[in-house]
Amino acid sequence: MTRKIIIDTDPGQDDAIAILLALASGDALDVLGITTVAGNVPLPLTSRNARMVCELCGREDIPVHAGARRPISGRTVTAEHVHGKTGLDGAKLDEPSMQLQSRLAIEFIADQLRVHEAGEITLCCLGPLTNIAAFLTEYPDLKARIGRIVMMGGAYFEVGNITPTAEFNIFADPQAAEIVFSSGLDLVVVPLDVTHRLLLTPSRLQAFRDIGSRIGHTVADWAGFFERHDIEKYGSDGAPLHDPAVIAYLLDPTLFTGRYVNVAIETDSELTRGMTVIDWWKVTDRPPNAQVMGAVDTDGFFELLTERLRAFGDGADRRYRTGSEMTCRQAV
Ligand code: RIB
Ligand code: CA
Repeated sequence: MTRKIIIDTDPGQDDAIAILLALASGDALDVLGITTVAGNVPLPLTSRNARMVCELCGREDIPVHAGARRPISGRTVTAEHVHGKTGLDGAKLDEPSMQLQSRLAIEFIADQLRVHEAGEITLCCLGPLTNIAAFLTEYPDLKARIGRIVMMGGAYFEVGNITPTAEFNIFADPQAAEIVFSSGLDLVVVPLDVTHRLLLTPSRLQAFRDIGSRIGHTVADWAGFFERHDIEKYGSDGAPLHDPAVIAYLLDPTLFTGRYVNVAIETDSELTRGMTVIDWWKVTDRPPNAQVMGAVDTDGFFELLTERLRAFGDGADRRYRTGSEMTCRQAV
């Protein structure tokens, strides 16, 4: 049974690889659409980048809807120092020709929730949670129709990556995160504690390149670009690969282990703004509100990612699209 998903994202090379992994998994995931949010780079660029990724793999049919340009409050934070000026530095791709959809991100999410069975859609959140918070505020009557939210965000034992205590996606919009974490929805959180175990070592980068397809080389080029910052910062044998872990969780949750705990968001303190205070040892009486992942089978993750990208070839072969009457088409 394929799972219907909407990907909310701020591409970002790692978001782009996550989108490719989802589109390469048409046997398991039906990507209803992509909603973009300001994050790694400003909204016009995240919206451009999402379309470039769809075109890279021949999926111009995927609707891309632009969302929030800035956080609910506070200043807009970006991460060009990691992802480069365009957000997809490292590989040369054509400017997109597919158009942005006219419906806003939250309107698209509402439209899809109305036409699908309640609980059928999973929101995959790869960036700041501004769009999701805006949706929950604008359409409270549709909240119950969301199946679950699987997000990359937060940190606990791994502490922060954009400040000493905060992970970027949460730090970029803590108020939005607070709205989502207090929504009562079924939340699965993949924090830095997991993604910092998913290091893009030289042999894993080479495995992408050895796929031999344009997509394989592009993924290796992207990864090779954004890892320079993290290798220097962490002195590790490769940069952590964050967002594809969300898609991998949907494809094979047995790769991950976690626990159902309380996650609270610091929204006021200047010092710890955006911190995810995860009650991992259940020392408070705050009720659990999220399934937080704490460990991952690293080799299993990279085998899954590399194999799916290898099978993907150079684009979507319509035979693997699900829920579609589209005729078979040669891989583009
Ligand atoms: O902290 C890592 C997260 O922030 C990833 O989603 C990356 O793409 C950036 O959005
Ligand atoms: Ca992201």
